[in-house]
Amino acid sequence: MLPLLTFLAALQLSSAYRSERPKTSSSLFILDEGVGHRSTPVTRWRTSIRSTTTQGTNATIIQQLGPENNPDQPIGAYSLAYSPSTSSLYSATGEGIIRTDIDGSNPKILITEDTIMSVTVAEKEGKIYYSTLTEGLIKRAELDGSNVEVVRNVSQGINLSYGASYTPAYFYAGGVLVDEEKGWLYWSASGGEHDGSVRRAALKSQDQEQEQVLASGINLPGQLRLVGDTLFWAEIGRWGDSPTAIKRIDLSQVRKSPVQPSSTTSSPVAYATQTVVHSNQSASIFVAIDYTGGLSTVAIQSFVVRGDGAEQKIWFVGMSAERTMFGKLVEITWKGSGDEEKAELKVLNQDTKDLGVPVGLEYVD
Ligand SMILES: *[C@@H]1O[C@H](CO)[C@@H](O)[C@H](O)[C@H]1NC(C)=O
Ligand SMILES: *[C@@H]1O[C@H](CO)[C@@H](O)[C@H](O)[C@H]1NC(C)=O
Ligand SMILES: *[C@@H]1O[C@H](CO)[C@@H](O)[C@H](O)[C@H]1NC(C)=O
Ligand SMILES: *[C@@H]1O[C@H](CO)[C@@H](O)[C@H](O)[C@H]1NC(C)=O
Repeated sequence: MLPLLTFLAALQLSSAYRSERPKTSSSLFILDEGVGHRSTPVTRWRTSIRSTTTQGTNATIIQQLGPENNPDQPIGAYSLAYSPSTSSLYSATGEGIIRTDIDGSNPKILITEDTIMSVTVAEKEGKIYYSTLTEGLIKRAELDGSNVEVVRNVSQGINLSYGASYTPAYFYAGGVLVDEEKGWLYWSASGGEHDGSVRRAALKSQDQEQEQVLASGINLPGQLRLVGDTLFWAEIGRWGDSPTAIKRIDLSQVRKSPVQPSSTTSSPVAYATQTVVHSNQSASIFVAIDYTGGLSTVAIQSFVVRGDGAEQKIWFVGMSAERTMFGKLVEITWKGSGDEEKAELKVLNQDTKDLGVPVGLEYVD
């Protein structure tokens, strides 16, 4: 047994050590698509990367993206990814994927192709995974943007009736996620109003037929996040007044079922999903009223999940970009347990000048 004095000394030492460590404060990083000329009467601004504290305070523009001399025409943005191993942010913008340091410095365009709707970083493999809108492809590249290769074709067909020069895919990956540990590639198949789905396939699979539909009938699925065995996704909503939500599925119910060939994907998906938050639950958060009195939904664009169980916290950013621009940062915590468990929403910041028109959110320790 440890003598008491030694124990006390050790205790003192450890608390002294702790107080000497620099106080680390976690931050949220936001990708703002910017505001163009249609947004009157709101001030126009360039596409930007912003940071706030996890309380939504101290909002700061850390980098503006796109040409300096043309603030009326921001380049636009779609998705943000944080890479802890390289301390970088990858922003999918109208100019392609732009890498910056975590403080927003040293912006560099890595990939300029098509419209890139989602981006994520596979840390162990050291690759960027991203998805294109018109081709409906998921691709990957080195962290410097070189060696681009197609990983998966998620288009489910190409609509040729638009003409040869612009032939959009029926579906594109509105969200992409790589589970390197278990070897899965997850994506949101986004297209029309209620035909979206969340799918996965083995990362190494060369066989395009082998994929699983985890959830379907979704109105524009976007961001995906995986915490343990729980997969979360954002349902953005196709139109300005569509409902919006964050939902989740417990993947342990999926593991035992056989992989379905994609040709059978029209059959209904039977897995149980849960709603974390739905816009119908809180008009004060999700209904935006513009200067003409018109109503729109503050659509959930991106979210992050930290921790598990009662300690779990989710932050999301929502926006409405109709006549007037609205940006909101909301925190979700859990109250009660079991069937009584209830999501509690708290608006941390709803100043559009602070948040911009947010499309991406990342948490950095
Ligand atoms: C927030 O900003 C205030 C004023 O600039 C500063 O004193 C404070 O340290 C900042 N807090 C954080 C957590 O960055
Ligand atoms: C992707 O699949 C579609 C059919 O679903 C096909 O028309 C298209 O050419 C494919 N794209 C590539 C790059 O192979
Ligand atoms: C293909 O595009 C045409 C023209 O816009 C449209 O009418 C049709 O519904 C589209 N087909 C599908 C399957 O989306
Ligand atoms: C949300 O409200 C709309 C309009 O009232 C309704 O059609 C829809 O079923 C509701 N959805 C949920 C999940 O409550």
